[in-house]
Amino acid sequence: CGEGSRTGTDPADEAVIAEAAELLKAGETVAFPTETVYGLGADARNTEAVEAIFEAKGRPSDNPLIVHIADRAALGELVTEVPPVAAALMDAYWPGPLTVVLPLRAGVLSSRVTAGLDTVGVRMPDHPVALALLAAAGCPVAAPSANRSGRPSPTLAGHVLDDLAGKIGGVLDGGAAGVGLESTVVQVQPDGSVAVLRPGGITAAQLAAVAGEAAVTGVSAAPDFTPPQEAAEASSRPAAPDAAGDGSPAPRAPGMKYAHYAPRGWLGVVRGSSPASAAKTAAGLLDAARGRGEKTGMLLFEEHLPLYPAGAADCVVSLGPLASPETAARFLYAALRRFDEAGATYILAEACPETGLGSAIMNRLMKAAAGCVIDAE
Ligand code: TXA
Ligand code: MG
Repeated sequence: CGEGSRTGTDPADEAVIAEAAELLKAGETVAFPTETVYGLGADARNTEAVEAIFEAKGRPSDNPLIVHIADRAALGELVTEVPPVAAALMDAYWPGPLTVVLPLRAGVLSSRVTAGLDTVGVRMPDHPVALALLAAAGCPVAAPSANRSGRPSPTLAGHVLDDLAGKIGGVLDGGAAGVGLESTVVQVQPDGSVAVLRPGGITAAQLAAVAGEAAVTGVSAAPDFTPPQEAAEASSRPAAPDAAGDGSPAPRAPGMKYAHYAPRGWLGVVRGSSPASAAKTAAGLLDAARGRGEKTGMLLFEEHLPLYPAGAADCVVSLGPLASPETAARFLYAALRRFDEAGATYILAEACPETGLGSAIMNRLMKAAAGCVIDAE
């Protein structure tokens, strides 16, 4: 239909899911809810359909897509091998927010899905609408997050429409996504260890519970997977241009390949030896920014609110209690979008401890800030 219209409001409605599945089978793109974020799906075997995903998102074609399946039996058609530890992780966490990168079986998927790599990332989402859609479509579905490339990932159908209306076949509205951050991406190494390529909804501790503590090698605030030739180029690339296009500062660090998950304004992450010192530094910077004519934003944890002077920023958004990283994860992307709605040009965000889901939260914040960290004493 090309209008980016919602195909229905009742996600439990079988007819709506059947209609969306028909769109997928016909080579259209359909956005759908998962337990992590909304995905923009297409038949992973159909090159034209997969190209429509890249087109709608404005996504660089060398960044591979995750393939979604509803049934473990579908795996054999897609990959040549499942290492024992990968199988154990799937037993424990599928369906769920875990993507496993496995050796690709040639000839089934469009090579556009894997960006020409000889591996493929596969996951089984834990969401009734996603699983029903995948089952009804009966094909492997390539689905990156359903946002314009570089924008915060969508956790509501409305976010999908904000970014992609008119560019996609439709969106299934399943309400708010659960985890709020994308899946954890892992790859089993030749020595049997589990490398975390992207922290996400399954924590390092959950991986270690299955694979063993010593077998999990982590990244925390590292960028997404970067193909080797791009990594070499990126280090010589100038800082990305002003993301807002309106003259607001955007000192994207060279070496980061893409601006990820970013609000339109400039974003910095504030770390401090204590919450009070971080708040003091942030309040001073916000004040100075406002003096320069910036529209300011502050992203903080609920219990730190009293550490800031009243009206410390034009737009103050709480991620909920520091003790509940689940809450922060669920609202992080919506919060980043909130700053755009408020027209914020200078935004600071409090750092959080990198434990449990906090690793994924910090990973996304650091990417949104393109690595820009302010250390309070
Ligand atoms: O939760 C999620 O994973 C969401 C929902 C929609 O399922 N999807 C998602 O897809 O986040 P996307 O395309 O935004 O992120 C895919 C990530 C990227 O970091 C990509 O580089 C990595 O997975 N990836 C995909 N295939 C890979 C491969 N063969 N090797 C290494 N990394 C891969
Ligand atoms: Mg994404």
